[in-house]
Amino acid sequence: MRRLAQTLAKRALQAKSRASSSSSAAAAPCLTHTPSSTTTKAPAMSPNSPQEANGSKRNLSSSIVWSPPITVDNINPQVLACEYAVRGEIVAHAERLQHKLLHNPSTLPFNELIYCNIGNPQSLGQQPITFFREVAALCDYPGLLDKDETHGIFSSDSIARAEKIINSIPGRATGAYSHSKGVKALRATIAEGIERRDGYPSDPEDIFLTDGASPGVHMMMQLTIRNQQDGIMCPIPQYPLYSASIALHDGTLVPYYLDESTGWGLDVSELKSRLQAATAAGINVRALVVINPGNPTGQVLSEQNQQSIVQFCKDENLLLLADEVYQENVYVDNKKFTSFKKIARSMGYTEKDFSLVSFHSISKGYYGECGRRGGYMEVTGLDSEVKDQIYKVASVNLCSNISGQIMMSLVMNPPKVGDESFELYTNERDGILSSLGRRAKMLAEALNKLEGVTCNEAEGAMYLFPRIELPEGAIKAAKAAGMVPDTFYCRRLLDATGIVVVPGSGFRQVPGTWHFRITILPPEDKMPSIITKLSTFHERFMQEFQP
Ligand SMILES: Cc1ncc(COP(=O)(O)O)c(C=O)c1O
Repeated sequence: MRRLAQTLAKRALQAKSRASSSSSAAAAPCLTHTPSSTTTKAPAMSPNSPQEANGSKRNLSSSIVWSPPITVDNINPQVLACEYAVRGEIVAHAERLQHKLLHNPSTLPFNELIYCNIGNPQSLGQQPITFFREVAALCDYPGLLDKDETHGIFSSDSIARAEKIINSIPGRATGAYSHSKGVKALRATIAEGIERRDGYPSDPEDIFLTDGASPGVHMMMQLTIRNQQDGIMCPIPQYPLYSASIALHDGTLVPYYLDESTGWGLDVSELKSRLQAATAAGINVRALVVINPGNPTGQVLSEQNQQSIVQFCKDENLLLLADEVYQENVYVDNKKFTSFKKIARSMGYTEKDFSLVSFHSISKGYYGECGRRGGYMEVTGLDSEVKDQIYKVASVNLCSNISGQIMMSLVMNPPKVGDESFELYTNERDGILSSLGRRAKMLAEALNKLEGVTCNEAEGAMYLFPRIELPEGAIKAAKAAGMVPDTFYCRRLLDATGIVVVPGSGFRQVPGTWHFRITILPPEDKMPSIITKLSTFHERFMQEFQP
């Protein structure tokens, strides 16, 4: 009898534990699909389902597995189509290695990861500009303006600037939403800065302040692309924001190729033939993107080249989208940045006969304030009804962040001769830019010494985009590993050295050519050791796959 009672008690316990484990399995979202877990077959297990409300409890069978209503099989296919290599699979692998470095460092052949994959200057040690940060700090904490000690810590012009900015914000409320285009007085300061830069008028009403240049680009893609038949011409190689945004908005990227053999030059005959081919294929080409200085290619366009682009857009009635976020990053004496607005105006085109949207940002230049998210787009030559629609779309996001708006106004109106901060500001700015120029040169020279590598100099921006002739054996090995050959190279580089770069395929490239993009941002004193690591890896890689 006692044994029978024990057996029954044991069975009851086992049954209870089976029931609780099947209900917890049912409650956990399941990412793998069983035949009964597809969205069509599996009933939803909502706690508010009518059966439960009626008190009739569903009998959970182990064959029914809950599946979330939104799965990777049924999300917007444009989201799946969108790729962003700058933070792609190589970076995901770097993050895994970072974790390993923390918990199991002896298993890795390096003791730090060097992130050369993204133009994020301050993450690699670049120091912010003192004047900009002083004004930002005072605007964030205006209470400091009333304290005597503040005058001993902050420069007189940063105090005056912060006061001016705060007084220009409605209600002096730096934590309030602003106008959806941005604080009017800050837009006026930016318009004045554009006028000083170009020598042509700029209207604050044409300025839309954004959280970096990226949201402005997305907004313009949203406005321009109506369906898959709408095409946007983009340089190849391109910064993947463009391919990603075009994919998200379900448009068609119409490539035009930059010519590596002429220092990533841009030939208007290439634009014409690509436009013709796209039109013949039934694509309505609506806009042309130009990135100057270029990313990932680093070229600075000549003024003649810019004029041909403007003329091409004018002749073909295309909207010109000018990405000018690297306008301060020019390192060669024989080139200088000139805005597309200045070029168009100097050719006699005005607000009335030429459509141009220019993008700028606080993320790059010598300021590198990427994480603060600030930028603007200047929308010219589009009629007021279209600008109203852009304003409406901007309003859906309420406004861009106020710190970014303030920073953008400072970038476009830095200290002037006679201001207390001027000397320090100039020293900091010139120190950063001249060091970036030296780093670009040093790295390009080293890359050009490597077997099978050719690299154009970086005239501007923050990157080098070397071409690698990969041995046949490496291409085969990449295929066997299920990787694109330049991704295979970058992955091997990362595993061997901790250096994170982006495969050229993420930016698109002439088919059959292989590249990678590396930033010039690591601190200057670290460059020699990075170059040694890179060169040693490359030699070994080439030896390994030599026929
Ligand atoms: C050419 C180009 N445009 C736009 C951006 C976007 O910058 P943000 O959104 O930070 O202003 C970047 C960032 O790297 C870039 O390289």
